[in-house]
Amino acid sequence: PDPVAVVPRLLGWYDRHARVLPWRAPPGTAPMDPYRVWLSEVMLQQTTVAAVRAYFERFTTLWPTVQALATAEETQVMGEWAGLGYYARARNLLACARQVAAMGGFPDTRQALAQLPGIGPYTSAAIAAIAFDRAETVVDGNVERVVARLFAVDTPMPAAKPQLVALAATLTPDRRPGDFAQAMMDLGATICTPRNPACALCPLNDLCRARTLGLAAELPRKSPK
Ligand code: ADE
Repeated sequence: PDPVAVVPRLLGWYDRHARVLPWRAPPGTAPMDPYRVWLSEVMLQQTTVAAVRAYFERFTTLWPTVQALATAEETQVMGEWAGLGYYARARNLLACARQVAAMGGFPDTRQALAQLPGIGPYTSAAIAAIAFDRAETVVDGNVERVVARLFAVDTPMPAAKPQLVALAATLTPDRRPGDFAQAMMDLGATICTPRNPACALCPLNDLCRARTLGLAAELPRKSPK
């Protein structure tokens, strides 16, 4: 579908239905502090929004700034991380905080962010878009599913990934790219769900190729194991 149709429809939906999350600025307002965006995105790698909430509140209460976190003891950070899993993330978190504090703050481009410990292609794009309003394309599992359905991509996962990233990039707007990225994530989490997608409630339903073909619930396909 044409980005000119998709983008305003999705942003309009986000203005009305964005999930209220402690690391998120309300739609259409100034971006959230990059520290909070970074911390949430690292915690949300492989962990659900529901599980992350309490940890995010605890960390930002204990350490309200990246400078504060940079001075923490590794044993305390590991202790507070307990339960979130993937403990390499916690060690990288502290290494990253120390590097960023020494730099005087977070860099504001995807490329510079990607040089930091624990920040891969997904996280660097997410921070650049959400915290710095850069027109970067943010593709997580939810976004892959939304794009596969919008464009009726029949190629099975994971082979379809590069194609899905390229198609997602055709949609990324220059205005409000952070809200757009989060709108795609919210649509995937709340409406364009893996099973029984709520197409009747979807702001993009008339633009969705998979829906037109009666394939929404079947996409994205998976390679047989
Ligand atoms: N999952 C990962 N990052 C997210 C975000 N910024 N908003 C909602 N869900 C997310």
